[in-house]
Amino acid sequence: MPNIDNMLKEIDYALNVLFEPVKTDIRDVNLKSNDKKVSQRVMRVNHMGEVCAQALYRGQAYTTNDTSQKRIILDMCEEEKEHLNMLNLRMNELEGKTSYLNTLWYLSSFAIGTFVGKLEKNKSFGFIYETEDQVEAHLDEYTEKLPDNDQRSKEILNDIKIDETKHKNTAKDHGSVELSDSAKKLMTISSKIMKKMSFYI
Ligand SMILES: [Fe+2]
Ligand SMILES: [Fe+2]
Repeated sequence: MPNIDNMLKEIDYALNVLFEPVKTDIRDVNLKSNDKKVSQRVMRVNHMGEVCAQALYRGQAYTTNDTSQKRIILDMCEEEKEHLNMLNLRMNELEGKTSYLNTLWYLSSFAIGTFVGKLEKNKSFGFIYETEDQVEAHLDEYTEKLPDNDQRSKEILNDIKIDETKHKNTAKDHGSVELSDSAKKLMTISSKIMKKMSFYI
């Protein structure tokens, strides 16, 4: 029997992630319009990634019965929330729009998280390890896509990467097992599709 209070708390959390972005009045006036457009797109993809991180971790924490694992996941989730805040701010400075598809990505990522949360502990951490490993590689790739003069966005992505590496190591320290090649491939393909779509819409 699902706990209604916990369910409502999750819905509230999701609505906050999706519809209460951080606002700022500061605008980036240093970038030319073409460069700004590129930065908006690159940072929109990263913003979407952090929305998914919220959903994955919340989903995993929601279904795991292991209280110590739950604590670790929620701690990481809090750091991911900081990333999301940083990207919300940057999107505002760039006067860019976040992805229209974020609600869809949140729901699907939350569903995956609830499934992973039910797996054995080493597999659950294996999923986190693989996710963070792919995010690390993604951040390098997308930092390269930013215009040379958008140093501020580059710095934000670099700061985020430090935490993602830490998360990967946390998963390893807690006994993560390597996922199968087919699981890894599925994760790569789905994130590629999500990134392609969020780049434009
Ligand atoms: Fe993150
Ligand atoms: Fe992370």
